[in-house]
Parts: sequence; C-alpha cells; structure tokens
Amino acid sequence: MTVTPGPPPARTTVGIVGAGPAGLLLARLLHLAGVDCVVLESRSRGYVERRQRAGILEQGTVDALRAAGAGERLDREGMPHDGVELRWGGRRHRVDFPSLTGGRRVWVYAQTEVVKDLVALQLNEGPPLLFDSPVSAVTGAGTGRPLVRYTRGGREHTLACDWVVGCDGFHGVTRRGVPDGALSTFERTYPYSWLGVLADVAPSHHELVYAHSPRGFALLSMRSPAVSRLYLQVPDGTDPSAWTDGRIWDELDARLAVDGDWSLARGPITQRSVLPMRSVVTEPMRWGRVLLAGDAAHIVPPTGAKGLNLAASDVVVLARAFGQLARTGSTAGLDAYSDTCLRRVWRAEHFSWFMTTTLHTAPGQSAFDTRLQLSQLERIAASPHAAAELAENYAGGPVG
Ligand code: APR
Ligand code: PHB
Repeated sequence: MTVTPGPPPARTTVGIVGAGPAGLLLARLLHLAGVDCVVLESRSRGYVERRQRAGILEQGTVDALRAAGAGERLDREGMPHDGVELRWGGRRHRVDFPSLTGGRRVWVYAQTEVVKDLVALQLNEGPPLLFDSPVSAVTGAGTGRPLVRYTRGGREHTLACDWVVGCDGFHGVTRRGVPDGALSTFERTYPYSWLGVLADVAPSHHELVYAHSPRGFALLSMRSPAVSRLYLQVPDGTDPSAWTDGRIWDELDARLAVDGDWSLARGPITQRSVLPMRSVVTEPMRWGRVLLAGDAAHIVPPTGAKGLNLAASDVVVLARAFGQLARTGSTAGLDAYSDTCLRRVWRAEHFSWFMTTTLHTAPGQSAFDTRLQLSQLERIAASPHAAAELAENYAGGPVG
C-alpha cells in the first residue's frame, strides 16, 4: 500500500497529470533539476504497473532512463537487440541496425518495468506521486496560475500551479483545459486492430519478427527469455475471449511460416487484449501555461514501436526547458517546445504509418495494393539504402 504522508500539496511549480511513462519520467527529470512538481494519477499503483503496453526502447530512451537514475534493472534485465526480421511469402529478411545506423540498437524492456522502476524511485525520493487521484479539470490555462482540480479520498482538492503538463494519455482531461478551437487534431484510423497475448514460452526467434501474410499481419516479440509477446491483426471489434488458445497459435503459425527449418513453440497464454490502430496528432503541444506530452499529444499505431519513445523524447525536451527557466528565467525552451517535438512526432507518425500499411492486409485490399506491399518488402531486402531507411527510423535518433 502506497501512502503519501501528510495532506496533499496545495501548490507546485509544475502540475503533472498522469503517471504513465511520460508523467513519471518528467517528474524524475524535474526532481533532479530541482524543479518542484506533483504527479496526480487517477488509477492505483497496481493498475498502472500491470498495464500491458509496449516493449521496445530506443537507445535514446535508454540513455534518458539511465540519466534519470532508472537504468539499473534495465541494464541488468533489458535485452539489447541489433535487428528485426521481416517475413513475407515464405521469405525472411533480417534488417541489421548497427551496420546501417552507425552503431545504434534497440532494447527489449517492457513498459510495465519502466513504470515500476520510475514509480519506486519517485515514492522513495519524491516528488509527490498521488495515486487514486483523478483530475476532473484543468482551468486557467491562459493565466499565470493554472489550477488542477482533483479528487482524493472522496474529497475535492485544488492544486495551484505555475505550469500544468498533461501526461494523461489519449483519453485524458488536460486537453479540455485549452479553449475550443485553439488545438488542431490530425488523425487517421486503420481498419483493423491487434490481438496481443503474453505466453509462458521462450520466444521462437532471438529478435522481433514482423510478418506480412494474406491472412493478416503477425508480430513475434518478447518480454524475457521465458516469456513471449505476440500479436495478430484482427478485425476491429474483435472480442479477445472469442479466440481459443489453439486458434491463436494456429493463426500465428500460419502467418509467421517461412520456407525452411523454423517452428513456433507454444505455451500457456496468460494475458490477452485487443488494441485499436490509430494515428492522432494534436497541435500545438502547448497553449499558455498548459503543455501536452506523450499520448496526451499524439498516438501512433504500435507497428513502429514508437509510442513510449516519443513520450520519453517529449519529456526530455520539456525537462530541459523547465531547467532553463529555473536557472535563467528564459522561456525560450518552453516557447520552442511544441515545434521541437512535433518534428520528431511527425517523423514517427510517418514511419508508423509506413510499417502499418506495408505489413497489414486491410479488409478488401486489392491485389494491386498487395503487389505494392510485396514490392516494398523486396526493395528493403535488395537495397541497403531502403533497409537503412527502416533501420534509422526504427532505432531512432538521440532523444530530446
Ligand atoms: N487524472 C489523472 N490521471 C489520468 C487521467 C486523469 N483525468 N486520465 C488519464 N490519467 C492517467 C492514466 O491512468 C495513465 O496512467 O494518465 C496516464 C497516461 O499514461 P499513458 O496512457 O501510458 O501515456 P504516456 O505516459 O504518454 O505513455 C505513452 O503508453 O499508451 C502507451 O503506447 C503508449 O507506449 C506509449 C506510452
Ligand atoms: C511489444 O513487444 O509489445 C512490441 C514490440 C514491437 C512493436 C509493437 C509492440 O512494434
């Protein structure tokens, strides 16, 4: 049981809404920079730490977590990966990252573990992290003293802030604190979803496998040497309980199949969920004294493994800007925050769209479109330039 001693704080410099990766990493970086902040999270600690999400960290995100003092278990348990494998029509092609990106790689370390590491640090060292404290409204975005209204222990509270950062995800409330018409939303939805499962079985390949198949997309990922994380493209609205374990494994077998000697090991499925595929960007990522970071500002389809890494990049930029303000009084970093982050956001949106539309077979997709996809995959296998474009985008650049 996490108990925050004493009455909740009534004011702070930076009010942070949401204790996902964005809110937690921002709080940690601000704490290390000596900037006062408070994190308000609607859910319980247990819920936040159990929520199954992404699993791939770019090198820049790993560097940021290490710099935040949250890299010790990551370095011990995280799995560095130097490439991914693409599969189509029985073929397989490995894209190597270091040779195509000047040495960059990615790390497999679940978002749940990143969250646990950051929560433990914050509860031990501060700043205040209030679970079970849903924010109902953010007001005064255009004033010098925005207010965050939240409920805790059945009572209404108000946190007076100099700044508010919405790290409250796609369904958060912070965006609603900005006047109507001040924000523009750009979005694309994809006509399919992912059925994701956790299975107690060693991964059947040592790196991630992205498979194009006329039956639909499949992804082989992992959480540890003993736990597999696997995904299947399914129709929107799929009920995860409608798929038996056997049907899931049979479908994964069919979609991941390659010519030659390879087989998919099976094991008990311990968790399953269906997630939609969508791209959303909110511009600008700042209005007055309210700023947005992570999923509160942008959503990517998971095919490019960008969501967690974009969240980390946003808050590295933001923490640097708040540090500049604290040291020099300059708001230059804060003034440039939105434009700085949106350049990376749109690059990640394009890459995620590319990976999604190249690898998925949309309902009613024409044979012509399928040939285009296969031509693109053949191009990546044949051209180091095309492979480098994928590798550079997947492995990412320096964060922030
Ligand atoms: N009040 C307080 N907390 C809230 C509120 C609210 N009104 N609304 C949402 N939250 C909390 C959620 O419970 C969640 O813990 O905000 C947090 C948002 O966390 P994420 O959705 O994980 O978003 P973010 O921190 O930006 O991380 C992005 O998470 O969703 C994945 O794929 C995404 O990997 C990416 C990462
Ligand atoms: C995951 O391991 O959850 C994962 C990995 C790569 C992706 C998406 C999800 O592109």
